[in-house]
Amino acid sequence: MKFFIDTANLDQIKEANELGILDGVTTNPSLMAKEGIKGHDAIMKHYKDICEMVDGDISAEVVSTDFKDIVEEGKKLAAIHPNIVVKVPMIKDGVKAIKWFTDNGIKTNCTLVFNAGQAILCAKAGAKYVSPFVGRIDDTGWDGVQLVEQIVHIYGVQGFKTQVLAASMRSPNHIIRCAEAGAHVVTSPLESILGLLKHPLTDVGLAKFLEDAKKLQ
Ligand code: E4P
Repeated sequence: MKFFIDTANLDQIKEANELGILDGVTTNPSLMAKEGIKGHDAIMKHYKDICEMVDGDISAEVVSTDFKDIVEEGKKLAAIHPNIVVKVPMIKDGVKAIKWFTDNGIKTNCTLVFNAGQAILCAKAGAKYVSPFVGRIDDTGWDGVQLVEQIVHIYGVQGFKTQVLAASMRSPNHIIRCAEAGAHVVTSPLESILGLLKHPLTDVGLAKFLEDAKKLQ
């Protein structure tokens, strides 16, 4: 399973990258806005900075919603760096654009996916990644991990090459359950990634080992 961080914050990307387990980054317009990035040039520079920090796929999202504009915007994003994956929303023109990008050698991540039917369309259009939003589904009282499991199953049965990128993680447990469900990639905030490190018995055990180690001197 690949491990992506879901943020546009350069310090957090650096911290996760230094752990040595990072395979890529996902961003979205809300995450970019949170970092106070404004204007075309600043946005392009920020994506370039991320690409230069992490050796892996970096999702940069289009904000256009009609086919021609999505294609034009996506081409500019893809030209920033070979690691850029153009993130396209699950709308009719988005599906058409994903197919165009696929036919023209540009990698895509289909975002805002909330059911299996949408995931089938992503795969048919040739997206590299499909992003089911697990946490947002859970927020509505449904089971987001169950959707990940269903998409993984359908893709396996049908032999689709699109990778299931479990997004909208809210906790370390989400990451574990998505790994169990067969997600090819999980993208999480730094907090959830670091949450995987923690267990109280690890802390207690380490304190005891360090205390006993003093007796060895
Ligand atoms: C996916 O790529 C999105 O950036 C992200 O995972 C959305 O997460 P949220 O529901 O926490 O905003």
